[in-house]
Amino acid sequence: MKHNKLKPFPANFFWGGSTSAYQIEGAWNEDGKGPSVIDMAKYPEGTADFKVASDHYHHYKEDIALLAEMGFKAYRFSIAWTRIYPNGSGEVNQKGIDFYNNLINEIVSHGIEPIVTMYHFDLPYALQQKGGWSNRETIDAFEIYAQTLFENFGDRVNYWLTINEQNMMILHGDAIGTVDPNLENPKKELYQQNHHMLVAQAKAMNLCHQLIPNAKIGPAPNIVSIYPASSKPEDIMAAYNYSAIRNWLYLDMAVFGRYNTTAWNYFEEKGYVPTILDFDMEVLASAKPDFIAFNYYTSQTVAASEGDGSDIGHTGDQHITVGEPGVYKGANNPNLKKNEFGWEIDPVGFRNTLREIYDRYNLPLIITENGLGAFDKLEEGEIVNDPYRIEFLRKHIEQMQLAITDGVEVFGFCPWSAIDLISTHQGCSKRYGFIFVNRDEFDLKDLRRIRKQSFYWYKELIATNGEKI
Ligand code: BG6
Repeated sequence: MKHNKLKPFPANFFWGGSTSAYQIEGAWNEDGKGPSVIDMAKYPEGTADFKVASDHYHHYKEDIALLAEMGFKAYRFSIAWTRIYPNGSGEVNQKGIDFYNNLINEIVSHGIEPIVTMYHFDLPYALQQKGGWSNRETIDAFEIYAQTLFENFGDRVNYWLTINEQNMMILHGDAIGTVDPNLENPKKELYQQNHHMLVAQAKAMNLCHQLIPNAKIGPAPNIVSIYPASSKPEDIMAAYNYSAIRNWLYLDMAVFGRYNTTAWNYFEEKGYVPTILDFDMEVLASAKPDFIAFNYYTSQTVAASEGDGSDIGHTGDQHITVGEPGVYKGANNPNLKKNEFGWEIDPVGFRNTLREIYDRYNLPLIITENGLGAFDKLEEGEIVNDPYRIEFLRKHIEQMQLAITDGVEVFGFCPWSAIDLISTHQGCSKRYGFIFVNRDEFDLKDLRRIRKQSFYWYKELIATNGEKI
């Protein structure tokens, strides 16, 4: 729809940015922190691991001051489960609690709203060794971990996100580094793990509402509009299939507490039906999120399956469609340009996605990731020019405002990433932040922070509540 007049961004809109613990903190084994699956995973040769990352653990005061200088209204970060429970369960590590107390105090003291992801890919390795999410004990461990977070930080944290991109861990966990390489029947097992994560999420949502009734909690999947490659009815069917498996399986469960019919049918067809215990469905139906957080980088396009191996395309990346025989085939969208990493750039798709989610669930929305990874260069005079990032974000923010004008309730935008950090599997040369961190793949240099061109642009945008895009 064309609008003659745009609605302004709401007052108190959460302009901010996002990070995750393992990609920014470093200090991977300091102060009692246990190893996570990420710490133990193997990374492609030539890319950095996450051991030092941006060393935010030792720079957090300086980092939060920079976010405050940009005018951040909200900051989304994750808590490392292994700092709180080094073995996933058992003894609490007080130094981990202290670190996050200090971090949250620092954030709040600058008038920034903390938005906490409870679990962003970094499952404690000790739990993985006992079967990880295949083992129902991990549900109990997550519930206890959630309770510890609510009890220790619930007096200052009003917004909670349960699990980051559960759907990407299931669909692309091998690329991210979360899948246990020893799984015998990975796909079937992953959908069992998925079921357990959904139950764990439901329990955490209920617990949050009981223990901190004024706080709000929601899921944080990666949701994108799925386009059919053509108007051929078979392509449209493939888009329905993939939408159900990629998007609605997760949100239908989080919001309505039931399995999406197409996704369930897919489980039956492929032999992936998870074992469901008595009361699981009751727990799932009882939990209600207060909002939906989602990450959006690109739309995806699919065509009808050819029914053979040719359906499976690229496999090494969580933002590129893979394809599955008999279900859908990944396709290129000839209408869209790609970034340097082959991800299609689709700001209008962002508006489509916002509308699709809101029409379906009618809950307030917050975007917890959106952004452009690029090989930024530090120039003489402490200059980092990143006009490509400004253009990417500007176009997405314009479409978000159009979606708001369409009637979608959006209460925040936290692009990826607040500060440079380590990409999930491409090291630190692929940068996303408003703030440059001076290190190379293997040379840690001085890790000093440098404001990029986009820092100043975003600062002005926030100061004018999005009027000056
Ligand atoms: C999302 C993740 O999938 O994409 C982030 O939640 C990740 O953790 C982001 O960093 C960008 O992907 P990448 O592979 O460029 O780091």
